[in-house]
Amino acid sequence: MAASAVAGNQLPGTGETVADDKRVVVLVSGHGSNLQALLDAAAEPGSGMAVVLVGADRPGAHGLERARRAGVDTAVVRPADHPDRRSFDLALRDLVAAARPDVVCLAGFMRILGPSFVRAFPDRILNTHPSLLPAFRGAHAVGEALDYGVKLTGCTVHLVDEEVDHGPVLFQAAVPVEPGDDEDRLHERIKAEEHRLLPLAVRLVAEGRVRVEGRRARVLTEEVSR
Ligand code: GRF
Repeated sequence: MAASAVAGNQLPGTGETVADDKRVVVLVSGHGSNLQALLDAAAEPGSGMAVVLVGADRPGAHGLERARRAGVDTAVVRPADHPDRRSFDLALRDLVAAARPDVVCLAGFMRILGPSFVRAFPDRILNTHPSLLPAFRGAHAVGEALDYGVKLTGCTVHLVDEEVDHGPVLFQAAVPVEPGDDEDRLHERIKAEEHRLLPLAVRLVAEGRVRVEGRRARVLTEEVSR
């Protein structure tokens, strides 16, 4: 972890703490464009949320660099440093819990998190997936949708439960497949939708405005949630 302790919410790049901001922890494995959308949303005046920690499973994840640039604490927990999946989950759980998150966001985090992690943050972990779930779960969703020949795909922002790409759906956006699309081109248009929906979902969960009823995630109106 970066030298400074994760003590309070920080205005990006300033180190200034804002006591009432909702605390967001983001986990990444790669490029981090979804993380960037969250950092940008949190940096808006009056956003009411702060990214307090960015964790990664590998030191080379570009998302870590984005976090550092925004003045956010970073940490790396590598599976190779742990004897089995459970101890990796526990190490990550302890790291994330120490940051006292209101919401944990998986933003291109390419590890499956087991029950020891998921149960520590009930209905407070969000994931974004580049398909219209339940179609095309797993790590190759965009390529598989293209190979299948679908005309419409998209993204799903959902709460995380103990099954992969499975928890209650919060938002989905459809993205038409265009003639001549390759995986990268299609994925870029899907990501544009993720960048729009993920900050919205993170804010709603952080503010306690999402009620989970079985498979359904319901957004509470302001009057009801008060
Ligand atoms: C996103 O499309 C996300 O849905 C998937 O991986 C991609 C991550 O992109 N799980 P980025 O690292 O946020 O740019």
